[in-house]
Amino acid sequence: MNILIIGGTGGIGSALINLLINQNTENTIHSTYHITQPELMHPQLTWYQVDVSKDSDVAELSETVNQLDIVINAVGMLHSGDMMPEKTITQFDSDFFNQNISTNVLPTLLIAKHLSPKLKSKTLNYFVTVSAKIGSIEDNNLGGWISYRSSKAALNMALKTISIEWKNKKFNTCVFAFHPGTTDTNLSKPFQRNVPEGNLQTPEKVAAALINLLQRLSLKDNGKFFSYDGTEIPW
Ligand SMILES: NC(=O)c1ccc[n+]([C@@H]2O[C@H](COP(=O)([O-])OP(=O)(O)OC[C@H]3O[C@@H](n4cnc5c(N)ncnc54)[C@H](OP(=O)(O)O)[C@@H]3O)[C@@H](O)[C@H]2O)c1
Repeated sequence: MNILIIGGTGGIGSALINLLINQNTENTIHSTYHITQPELMHPQLTWYQVDVSKDSDVAELSETVNQLDIVINAVGMLHSGDMMPEKTITQFDSDFFNQNISTNVLPTLLIAKHLSPKLKSKTLNYFVTVSAKIGSIEDNNLGGWISYRSSKAALNMALKTISIEWKNKKFNTCVFAFHPGTTDTNLSKPFQRNVPEGNLQTPEKVAAALINLLQRLSLKDNGKFFSYDGTEIPW
């Protein structure tokens, strides 16, 4: 299969690449990195340096890759530099909000825009973004983290909207959002002490859960939001 992993040097992205390479010698993996230089080199793997929040960068990427069976976007941010997610609205900062939007929502829109010709095919294919349950409006009982939460809610709406358009245009693409659970990566490091014992996922387990979903989901699951445990999450 021809697979594109966006954000391949991230915790979840790199676990996905490792698993896909080990799983099948026939898999061809294309992956993007941004600032962090990739360490993993493999004959089945090609790297591209892309800022996926830039229209021109994503347009250039789309010229480089062939028809794709699976696209997974594992790019995202929760904190940056000394900016941490807000505990209250009084901590809201417009630059931090805009950074959340441009990292957590914009890439999926740009990837869908530029790569749609590479997905339209006669065979079933997948367009997945790693989202977060915190972006579910129905599930929001705690409040807080307003920039990250709002960006993931916007991402979820973007995915749902793309799924409807592509269904109407008779794409064979199953579009879905994936919640990895709290996973041991740089993104969650500052918050891991609050995670109950046994609830912190390894990136390897999360990658396996996502690949498992890809093996069992089909067009009837287009436009849905799934957790790492296989259950559906309300939007
Ligand atoms: N870890 C968790 O507990 C958890 C929970 C729920 C949801 N998620 C979601 O899971 C996804 C993956 O996160 P992770 O935990 O694997 O975090 P991570 O290890 O920090 O990886 C994030 C990745 O995003 C890339 N990135 C950021 N801005 C970019 C840009 N403009 N262009 C291209 N790449 C960019 C980073 O690349 P550089 O380092 O090169 O900038 C990095 O590879 C995120 O969407 C996150 O919101 C994670």
